[in-house]
Amino acid sequence: MTTDAPNGTVVLAYSGGLDTSALIPWLKEKYGYDVVACLVDLGRVKGIPAIMERAKAAGAIDAVAIDAKEEFAEHHCLPALMANALYEDKYPLSTAIGRPVIAKKLVETAHKYGATAVAHGCTGKGNDQVRIDIGVRALDPNLTIIAPARAADWPSREELLDYVAAHDIPVNLTKKSPYSIDENMWGRSNECGVLEDPWVAPPEDAFQFVASAADAPGEPQHVVVSFEKGKPVALDGKPMGMVELIEAIDAIGNRHGFGRVDMIENRLVGIKSREVYEVAGALALITAHRELEDLVLTRDLLHFKRTIESKLSDMIYEGQWFDPLTEACKAFLFQSQERVTGDIRLKFYKGGCVADGRRSDFSLYSYKLATYSKEDEFSHEAAAGFIQLWGLPIEVWARVGKEHHMMKELEDEAVSEPI
Ligand code: ARG
Repeated sequence: MTTDAPNGTVVLAYSGGLDTSALIPWLKEKYGYDVVACLVDLGRVKGIPAIMERAKAAGAIDAVAIDAKEEFAEHHCLPALMANALYEDKYPLSTAIGRPVIAKKLVETAHKYGATAVAHGCTGKGNDQVRIDIGVRALDPNLTIIAPARAADWPSREELLDYVAAHDIPVNLTKKSPYSIDENMWGRSNECGVLEDPWVAPPEDAFQFVASAADAPGEPQHVVVSFEKGKPVALDGKPMGMVELIEAIDAIGNRHGFGRVDMIENRLVGIKSREVYEVAGALALITAHRELEDLVLTRDLLHFKRTIESKLSDMIYEGQWFDPLTEACKAFLFQSQERVTGDIRLKFYKGGCVADGRRSDFSLYSYKLATYSKEDEFSHEAAAGFIQLWGLPIEVWARVGKEHHMMKELEDEAVSEPI
């Protein structure tokens, strides 16, 4: 597409909201670029044609919507699930794992349009700017990255409203929300407004998907999740692709009031923030996946895997998706999933989700070894010898300590004795 803007074309990560809509004329007026608006659908985006129209009405030379749901589920949600990835043991990284996909689509669109720059609406205080900037630099270091919301001249919200009004940009102001929301199929993140006071309990209107536990059905619901090599492939025996399965289990969790997370988290830029998440599907799948791993993996593999899980979670949070260490962690994860095949029965009830049944052809659980009944085949006699050797280093240590202690006592006595 030809352009007569002084600096050519920029591809803007577009959501249809106030900020990214204002960015369209802003990038033209202040930065001298024609704008191609690029909406990346990672799930839960509604009214795409209207969003595309809005971008064009705001002055975009073109608007594209990219359906990246499948790619997101297969190549981002799945490795995160295999890693049981939780930032600071709580947040399943739903926003964080989406950003590399957005970076990739921005770069691909820039190449398609012959653009020399990409832009986004992230502020200078968040993690997302880090993830998108580094993602773009990893994929095409020659692209210029423009982030006007980081610049000193970026208007306040009130000024922004005046700006869009002056430019006749049709932003839906009736739906003015005090919150800042980001959502995709792996979860919904919510911050700002009253949530900025960590003592204030999140009001009900902070949640859009997960029912309150008090309103959840009085009857539990069981769901069997089947995995093949670490990948969830069926619910209650019905085969499903990743996208459909994530959406289906998320809906069940939402109905039963499961998947609300309210936390203080440590941002990469050094501040603590309070965020509220709705992550029913992600947490339910992690619960099931971890349970199956407990059944089929050896103790050493399980324990060592935790260090990889925690490292990869931090790397995803901190914008290092395209780092070679991430690739190496993923290779470890996929290798570790060779036998993670089997079924987990989850029980959803009143805000909770627990595994209450597990089975696998690769189960390492042996009834004959575990039972206390007369079928017990465990070698009790061997236990005494095992403990004898297992405890040997501790015993030797203790003996030496004791001797040393006695010697010291004798020495102390000698010193204190009058000559
Ligand atoms: N704190 C989360 C993260 O850094 C979510 C960020 C986006 N949150 C939002 N409410 N807009 O991954």
